[in-house]
Amino acid sequence: MTVTIDPERAVEIRPGVWWVGWPDYDAGFSNNPYLIVDGQEVVLIDPGSRLDVHWAWVKKKVESVVPIEKITMVIVHHQDPDLCAAIPLIEEAVGVNNFEIVTTERTALFIPYYGVKTEVTAIGDGEYMEIGESGRELHFITSPYLHFPGAFVTYDKKEKILFSSDIFAGFSIDWSLFANEYYMEAMKVFSQPYLSDQRPVRNFLRKVRGIEIEMICPQHGSIIPKDKVQEAIDTLWDLEVGVWE
Ligand SMILES: [Fe+2]
Ligand SMILES: [Fe+2]
Repeated sequence: MTVTIDPERAVEIRPGVWWVGWPDYDAGFSNNPYLIVDGQEVVLIDPGSRLDVHWAWVKKKVESVVPIEKITMVIVHHQDPDLCAAIPLIEEAVGVNNFEIVTTERTALFIPYYGVKTEVTAIGDGEYMEIGESGRELHFITSPYLHFPGAFVTYDKKEKILFSSDIFAGFSIDWSLFANEYYMEAMKVFSQPYLSDQRPVRNFLRKVRGIEIEMICPQHGSIIPKDKVQEAIDTLWDLEVGVWE
């Protein structure tokens, strides 16, 4: 599926779920924040970098759907700057403690290092939240060592989307919003140096094996549609990781 990317407009990937990211064709490194709007609940997942050039994309895209000050929740799957550095800019727009930051306890330790003053809600493995008017369930699944001890992913039960953070992520010069025929290679190029050991990879894949997944939304690379989900899982299961010497 080819999608024309308008720098100022979010792309609705499922009803009520938008891609609000930015491609970086030169570096082959796209960044993929996502937005969920469910009634009054406005959730931004892994908001990203605070660089003007990056945040301008995300902010404009969010605002093509909903005013930025309407954000009620920010989910950050680990503490890297490509997820978290923009949180102080969200505080400027929304107000300190006027929205909720959701992450694990280990990650919560580092969020204030970005100058973030908003309190953090720590979640644990298997916990979930009901949000919005629909009572949409967001389930949290920890993914230790992929690629941080406190990392986790979020499963949106309503749309059956796995927001997978750096798992299933890809480096690709020929980036497209939805995974093309080269994406498994792109995923290997990212995963082999980023994921250091096969055991946590397989432990995580066992955890998500029983979940019905219609779409995987990683934080880099391309969105993996239903017809490529099993291939992506199999590719990661068999992948030799930790090979960077
Ligand atoms: Fe990361
Ligand atoms: Fe990342």
